[in-house]
Amino acid sequence: MFDSMTAEAEVLEFLRTVVTTIKPELVVETGTFSGISTLWIAEGLKANGRGRVISCEFDREIYENAKVRIQASGLAEWIELRRESSLEMKVEGRIDLLFSDSDMPIREQEIRRFLPQINPYGLILMHDASSHLKIVREAALKLEQDGLISVVLMPTPRGLVVAQRREERK
Ligand SMILES: C[S@@+](CC[C@H](N)C(=O)[O-])C[C@H]1O[C@@H](n2cnc3c(N)ncnc32)[C@H](O)[C@@H]1O
Repeated sequence: MFDSMTAEAEVLEFLRTVVTTIKPELVVETGTFSGISTLWIAEGLKANGRGRVISCEFDREIYENAKVRIQASGLAEWIELRRESSLEMKVEGRIDLLFSDSDMPIREQEIRRFLPQINPYGLILMHDASSHLKIVREAALKLEQDGLISVVLMPTPRGLVVAQRREERK
């Protein structure tokens, strides 16, 4: 891991590979922090030659630091960085890939909020879903029990849920 906040190295690689595999037009990330995961997603978009990632960060100072990193990266054209809360952010259009990586206690709310806009053949990734962190895993399983998503629990160091919206998936 880079630090205690940024996604694990293997999850960063996974993010880029998921992007090059499913070729999303629209990716939404909640919780930019340093912008490292945003840049890995953008690497995938660049390889695809299309799509964009909207990433939100509500902390002003953290947002400003991420902005500097992204502007210096050569990948800024693939990224729309927003300084706002994931629980207030409005996104236009259908979301093909949602990477939920903000504050752990609000992840369930976040998924519920964006769910109507998520492509039923797209993917929802919920980070920090290991059994020791608990809260995100329980949120994902609750959403599954409520019939909203189907989940796969991936045993990465911090845990990663890969999920798909159930409504409209045939
Ligand atoms: C785990 S870090 C994100 C790490 C980043 N995705 C990466 O892997 O490089 C979580 C970030 O989410 C931000 N955050 C927490 N709640 C938020 C919210 N409701 N909306 C936007 N950002 C939020 C925090 O300030 C923090 O910077």
